[in-house]
Amino acid sequence: MYPLQRNRRLRSSASIRALVQEHKLSSNDFIAPIFVESGQGKQTEIASMPGYFRYSLDQLPDEITTLWSLGIKGVLVFVKEEDHLKDNKGTAALNPKGLMQNAIKTIKNTVPEMVVFTDVALDPYSSYGHDGIVEKNQILNDPTVEVLAHMAASHIEAGADGVAPSDMMDGRVLKIRECFESNGWTNALIMSYSAKYASSFYSPFRDALDSAPGFGDKKTYQMDSANKQEALTETLRDLEEGADIIMVKPGLPYLDIVHYLAQQIQAPIAVYQVSGEYAMLKAAAQQGWLDYDAVMLEQLLAFKRAGAALIATYHAKEACRLINH
Ligand code: PBG
Repeated sequence: MYPLQRNRRLRSSASIRALVQEHKLSSNDFIAPIFVESGQGKQTEIASMPGYFRYSLDQLPDEITTLWSLGIKGVLVFVKEEDHLKDNKGTAALNPKGLMQNAIKTIKNTVPEMVVFTDVALDPYSSYGHDGIVEKNQILNDPTVEVLAHMAASHIEAGADGVAPSDMMDGRVLKIRECFESNGWTNALIMSYSAKYASSFYSPFRDALDSAPGFGDKKTYQMDSANKQEALTETLRDLEEGADIIMVKPGLPYLDIVHYLAQQIQAPIAVYQVSGEYAMLKAAAQQGWLDYDAVMLEQLLAFKRAGAALIATYHAKEACRLINH
């Protein structure tokens, strides 16, 4: 009771504030998304994601070395497939000499200790821009899951440490886990996008990979933004099916979901601060309306406070430059 208790005593100097701080960002928290494209000598800035680039394979080693030197221990790899290689079944995704498989090898050859997660979904390879196989304007679940398991296997064969299925088909974690076990890949990780919402925050990412859906939307497989209980149902099912890490996506607008799951489950929770969130902050900072660095760190800290163990973010490199001193 005041004045016996005064809240401001613990805030009265920078040192006492540091001593009683509950949460702290570290380079161990981050997973850096990596965009890869075909060709040579290319670093292509994504128009709706200023300061973020797609790299051709020959440019990857420098970027990976930089990330590692900043203390970043995990990457999440996405590829931009060439149009003429896209089809309904995502055939190009299974090519052992495909862009993803080569990217995995390049990253592992550069920094073997870097934990490489790969995106598993059909959309970058799909002529329809959907995460599954399309028939009569429907997204087929079970045939898609078969392809996803093959795709996941080809990533582990190429040297990935784990896969991150972002497709939201039912039962894909189980099929992928069974496939890994039957191959003896007992340590292969599954970081499952468990609570992935049908969000309008993904559009800059779809520019980056040229993967926008050709018709309709993704609401028959991604979750309704209005739902919270369903996030727990999805998550518990993915854990039962063999996921090691579960993910909530997008980030800041879904912080309640991160916090709720953190109270309900034991497994590590990853949060994905998505492309639209990055674009908003960049745009505001370009106008001079916000202090970019301060707002970025405040947002990232909010993820930890909410209970996330890992943060997939386009700010990973920038954040580490600020906090590593
Ligand atoms: C595709 C995928 C998407 C993202 C990650 N994997 C887009 C989508 O579902 O349409 C979005 C990432 C971002 O916006 O940063 N399976």
